[in-house]
Amino acid sequence: MDEAHRSTAESIRSLIVRSLASSAMFRAALTSVPPLERDPWLDLVFGLQSLPDDSSELPQGCVPYLPCSVDAILRIVDCAGVQASDVFVDVGSGVGRAAVLVHLLTGASTIGLEIQSQLVHASRDLMTRLNVSRFSPVQGDAVELTEFMTIGSIFFLYCPFGGARLEKVLDDLEPIARTRPIRVCSVDLPLPSRRWLTPMVPPSGDIAVYRSTLLDR
Ligand SMILES: C[S@@+](CC[C@H](N)C(=O)[O-])C[C@H]1O[C@@H](n2cnc3c(N)ncnc32)[C@H](O)[C@@H]1O
Repeated sequence: MDEAHRSTAESIRSLIVRSLASSAMFRAALTSVPPLERDPWLDLVFGLQSLPDDSSELPQGCVPYLPCSVDAILRIVDCAGVQASDVFVDVGSGVGRAAVLVHLLTGASTIGLEIQSQLVHASRDLMTRLNVSRFSPVQGDAVELTEFMTIGSIFFLYCPFGGARLEKVLDDLEPIARTRPIRVCSVDLPLPSRRWLTPMVPPSGDIAVYRSTLLDR
């Protein structure tokens, strides 16, 4: 990474830590970096080094930690229209990288559901390093926890699991969607169809963004 981008990473990090980085400032700094360099740039801002190991807490059939690309998250934020008033729930949140990125880009409050305790600890370390408070990492099985996320307005899945687990999570979101409109977004994970979910934009490449229709007139 060239020295100019290294320098913007340090400057924006210093502003975040002092709660002086607005969403617009953060986005402008991020998008001033060429697309291929945005992931290492973000890791520099967040102080994230090597990928953490997965542990035996990860159930068989669930997907290990791999961070979602900055590029996919930017497209999700734009297609789903994430606002500061939203509560963004990352289902399988790893070290909190995606959730904290969405918070910095939009001002939204974020919640992360993560089954591996060392990743939840890493999420709390990230919050402490950046002095970010509007992110709540919750440790546990997202398959059991999602139904309790009744304050969530946007649910994000970067392929934590598929099959019966994914079906249950979608079915558990339906009662929430009966009380408020929600959006469900996924990356690299085609969602099984549900009558109450309709695409907000035609699925394109790796991302899909749906909105609930249960409260439509
Ligand atoms: C592909 S990573 C995505 C991480 C994060 N969402 C991101 O985009 O940077 C999938 C994450 O889901 C977590 N995961 C897998 N199964 C889970 C489950 N049943 N409950 C909670 N988290 C789970 C894994 O531990 C891993 O951190």
